Amino acid sequence: MCGIVGYIGDKEAFPILIKGLQRLEYRGYDSAGVAILNSDGSLGIGKKKGKVADLLDYIGKDHGLTGSAGIGHTRWATHGPPSDINAHPHQARLGELAMIHNGIIENYQSIRKTLESNGHKFLSDTDTEVLIHLIEEVQKRSGLTTCEAVQVALREVEGAYAIVVIDQKDPNTLIAARKSSPLVIGVGEEGEYYVASDATPIVEYTQNVIYLDDEEVAVMNRTQGLVIRNLQNVVIAPEIHELELQIEAIEKGGYEHFMLKEIFEQPRSIRDSIRGRMSLQRGEIRMSGIDDHWDRWKDTERILIIACGTSWHAGLVAEYLFEDFARIPVEVEYASEFRYRNPVIRNTDIVIAISQSGETADTLAAIRLAKENGAHVFGVCNVVGSSIARETDSGAYTHAGPEIGVASTKAFTAQVSILTLMAMMVGKRKGHLSDKRFSRLLVEMNSIPEKVATLLKQDGKIQKIAAAFKDSTNALYLGRGFNFPVALEGALKLKEISYIHAEGYPSAEMKHGPIALIDEAMPVFFIATMDEVYDKVVSNIQEVKARGGRLVAIVTAGNKDLAKLAEYVIEVPKCDQALAPLLTSIPLQLLSYHIAVLRDCNVDQPRNLAKSVTVE
Ligand code: G6P
Repeated sequence: MCGIVGYIGDKEAFPILIKGLQRLEYRGYDSAGVAILNSDGSLGIGKKKGKVADLLDYIGKDHGLTGSAGIGHTRWATHGPPSDINAHPHQARLGELAMIHNGIIENYQSIRKTLESNGHKFLSDTDTEVLIHLIEEVQKRSGLTTCEAVQVALREVEGAYAIVVIDQKDPNTLIAARKSSPLVIGVGEEGEYYVASDATPIVEYTQNVIYLDDEEVAVMNRTQGLVIRNLQNVVIAPEIHELELQIEAIEKGGYEHFMLKEIFEQPRSIRDSIRGRMSLQRGEIRMSGIDDHWDRWKDTERILIIACGTSWHAGLVAEYLFEDFARIPVEVEYASEFRYRNPVIRNTDIVIAISQSGETADTLAAIRLAKENGAHVFGVCNVVGSSIARETDSGAYTHAGPEIGVASTKAFTAQVSILTLMAMMVGKRKGHLSDKRFSRLLVEMNSIPEKVATLLKQDGKIQKIAAAFKDSTNALYLGRGFNFPVALEGALKLKEISYIHAEGYPSAEMKHGPIALIDEAMPVFFIATMDEVYDKVVSNIQEVKARGGRLVAIVTAGNKDLAKLAEYVIEVPKCDQALAPLLTSIPLQLLSYHIAVLRDCNVDQPRNLAKSVTVE
């Protein structure tokens, strides 16, 4: 969380920083701020509670922040509430030194106490201000250069950081460092550098990037170029990667919101996630992340899946898939619980870590724990070059393209697609999935993108259903089997963006609690596609009907029975029950989207949320 961006070169820094911050707003939008080394040698700061647009309103057109080096920040509050004072950049050395930070300095309180006893005064509640004062103090104590002082100070801190420091006394330099929070450096024209939490603020200017590693400090100098050192001052040779990201992929392309664009991109994103991995002609699935490590997969007795949020829901779908196709016991874990509960991890375990961003702090920490215990870790990530992608033993990218709406949509279906292929491949190799079922599933998988495209044509109808429920205060989502995780995901989507309280439940469990909530005002969304538990789900629908709940049923195309019971019916194309989540999740995404729009909610940037959760 928090987005950071920096620029040094010949161009005007302000527009680059502002555009970059707008691209990074998905990471947090509690406040925004910039610091620019003005052409007159002064360090100009503008910061404001709220979004980048509020900052622009506040500083006005004649802000005077002109210069070709600067840093910018968009905040997701951790230490101290959203306010002008807590907004970054933070300053020290009488305002000469400014810093932006993403992460948490865990021992900031003890450092702050020591610094206060040495006369430092703090304006904000943030851990960031403590770090920049620590850098000042180190410099004062030892007469080191700012870069050296950054290295020494970072050796004293515990926690996570991605920082960029700008120093009025050294106007040709930007200093950046990271540990457990992401940071990408863009290498532009000679003596020109960009630095950001991800590549989206950079892609417009250069395709050449360097992913900084943990405990590395980069000094970007207009005349002397770039030098990377670790905290022990050893020089590290930079590895330049070429970005594959296209600028169109991070723009709205005519849609009103990123979320809607991303929902509609799913025929393409699902296709991209399976492309090159499955072949109908050859009747096979190949994934090098599994092929190359088959010795670890072939005898494993257990798969542990670790993830957070929507990715955790994709993990639940995978549990059903792996147990059904490959007969391997699966446990699905919230990364944040797993890592703190002294879990049993065996060196024969396969751990699948699922993460859209590849930066979720808890998932990353859980991966490290699994690796320490000898498990083989396979990553399913969307962001190329992300920390999780780099720290796992093997993996598969989802290739969904950048997901910018905070509520995850196309990343979920891409994750489920990859996990389906993985389970099919392992199931077939282990001899548990018959050739016949495997071939049928391959054909079905291949037709999913088309079916999603057909489904999306019902958008107008779903919009009307959304209008009927926009004023609800609660909602229940029920599903069984493969559709149970979809019920959880449907409820999460509604909560996240429309602020309506919603719960997802296995339909049969409803009788053990949620049924007490049902009255004429309660919408109940049933996912009742044709599968082996369909009849049971119909009984559950009857139970809700008998108690007056307002029913919406998601059914397999051609189902006439439920039209008699439900107020609204949404049809999804017929498919194998194991693939149902790839279809049934889509109308629920659209429903949440339209309800949120009708309630005038900020769909792409819902309150209190951030897309990339880099704090624990
Ligand atoms: C945040 C996002 C969710 C996401 C979750 C896990 O809460 O708002 O959309 O599912 O983090 O993120 P990851 O990037 O690890 O999938």
